[in-house]
Amino acid sequence: MSRFVYVDGAFVPFEDARISIMDRGFLFADGIYEVSAVLGGRLVDNAAHLARLERSLSAIRIALPVALDAIVPLQEKLIALNALEEGIVYIQITRGVAERDFAFPKDGQPTMVMFTQAKTLAANPRAETGVPVVTVPDIRWERCDIKSVALLAQVLAKQEAAEKGAYEALMIADGKLTEGGSSSVFVVDRKGRLITRPLSNAILPGITRATLLRLAAEHQITIEEREVALEEMHGAAEMFLTSASSFVLPISSVDGRPVGDGKPGPVTRKARAIYLEMAQAV
Ligand code: PDD
Repeated sequence: MSRFVYVDGAFVPFEDARISIMDRGFLFADGIYEVSAVLGGRLVDNAAHLARLERSLSAIRIALPVALDAIVPLQEKLIALNALEEGIVYIQITRGVAERDFAFPKDGQPTMVMFTQAKTLAANPRAETGVPVVTVPDIRWERCDIKSVALLAQVLAKQEAAEKGAYEALMIADGKLTEGGSSSVFVVDRKGRLITRPLSNAILPGITRATLLRLAAEHQITIEEREVALEEMHGAAEMFLTSASSFVLPISSVDGRPVGDGKPGPVTRKARAIYLEMAQAV
């Protein structure tokens, strides 16, 4: 079976998909992306991802090439064409093709592409062991709340992590944790309280983060939205990451120091369980 992707209104075999070298996504990283999880062939928390897509596009003044509610049937068709049971749907919208010039083109037509990737999400073996992470300086710009395809800082951060044998890079600005290279970060203190950085321009408003905060409150888990210093992180009882492609993933060590006893703790296990319950019930 061939792999199908979506390019500007058409579903085409992967091998036939073409984007111009003058696409502003390629030349300037002038575009936005979204990643939604697929579980049992169904999209997880997708309305929230599409709402963030619309918000990011409007922040950089790109018009939606199709109506927001017309995107869901396109995602569903791509899932069906690729017989995707578990994995992700990736959407990218750029300012389109124009002769290279920094300012916006006059009559630009946005480019929209989508593809799927199969991935084991629910039975991820890393959820049992936890993942090692390392800290790196956060060298990004001042609009980290926009889900921009300009990901060079994260590419470098995650490459450094990979070279150190770690799964994720935790980015640090002014001695405080911002977020992971491609994830939100939660700390659990010794009283079992869930701590995560409040939303601002310094972090992406994670969809998994928001849903988990809602579910945690429903399960009487105490939440504190505040900044966490590097030293506090080193004394944490538990830590975990959240993202559309990992749900809730325990952190086993930070810069080589074990978090707690180095194994997934009770609050992290509970957080993953309540998130999975929601995701599987969709
Ligand atoms: N990354 N912070 C950053 C910097 C991210 O790139 C992501 C997601 C998150 C988590 O957001 P959400 O829960 O909405 O997935 C936080 C995606 C998965 C990626 O780049 O592949």
